[in-house]
Amino acid sequence: MSPRLLSGQTLVAGVVGRPVRHSLSPAIHSAWIAAAGIDAAYVPFPVPESGFRAFVEGMRGGVVRGVNVTVPYKEDALTLADEADLLSRRSGAANLLLFRDDGRVEARNTDGPGMLEALNTAPGFDVKAGPVVLLGAGGAARGAGAALVGSDAAELRIVNRTWYKAAGLTEAFPRTYPFAWEDMAKAFDGAVAVINATTAGLGGENDLSGLPLEALPSGAVVMDMVYKPLETGLLKAAKAAGLRTVDGLSMLINQARPSFEAFYGIPAPAEPDVRALCLERLG
Ligand code: ATR
Repeated sequence: MSPRLLSGQTLVAGVVGRPVRHSLSPAIHSAWIAAAGIDAAYVPFPVPESGFRAFVEGMRGGVVRGVNVTVPYKEDALTLADEADLLSRRSGAANLLLFRDDGRVEARNTDGPGMLEALNTAPGFDVKAGPVVLLGAGGAARGAGAALVGSDAAELRIVNRTWYKAAGLTEAFPRTYPFAWEDMAKAFDGAVAVINATTAGLGGENDLSGLPLEALPSGAVVMDMVYKPLETGLLKAAKAAGLRTVDGLSMLINQARPSFEAFYGIPAPAEPDVRALCLERLG
């Protein structure tokens, strides 16, 4: 591919994190930019922890259209913004900052909707049909919980290794109940989906391959937010148990779509197959 020249009108957006070196977002957005044939760029910004506030302040004015925000800045992103959508406020975190021409900074959360879109790729899945089980009570679980409750999930069951954190999270949401890790089988009873929002399984460590999946109904969907490795121990076990599965890469791509539209003003093109591109990068 010949290098593309940037012009004075190039629409610039990017991703901020520490580290951002391994982020798949530049590959996804750059592929969409090329397919759409727009004068735009998507840049990884490796901002050091002491510099995140200065970075956001320096971006005011819309020269850079916006950034996706990843670990460890999602909570700070919400705090530093001048306005925030309902989902980021409910999640306590934002993965998208938009730098408006008038100097204001707007925070949004597309992680939760991305997760819902990913879940909905399972044929026939209906979030209103029964309880959804969320494993974990950290930042990722809070974002997922906010989106699920916002989409009128019938009931949310939070299972966390540290019980009081699960209980704390249920206070933030309606129709939500805490379960101890030891009571996971009870939480699985009658559930339409289980979503891993813990960091267990990341990098293949502490994988959740030994969960009581036999307690789930046969039509349940098992989703893992972890995508490194793509097929986690949990997803492997779920497949072996004959359950439908959704991986974390599906969520990543689905959170990127609304970000692209917010940055560049057009929907993300359907082609190319960015999933295949990410799989290549993940090796
Ligand atoms: P994130 O922002 O990615 O959600 P976090 O806020 O640090 O990260 O939360 C990590 C979550 O993973 C927590 O729910 C944590 O459980 P505890 O509250 O008991 O710490 C969960 N977690 C991490 N390692 C785990 C493991 N090996 N087994 C089960 N849960 C684990």
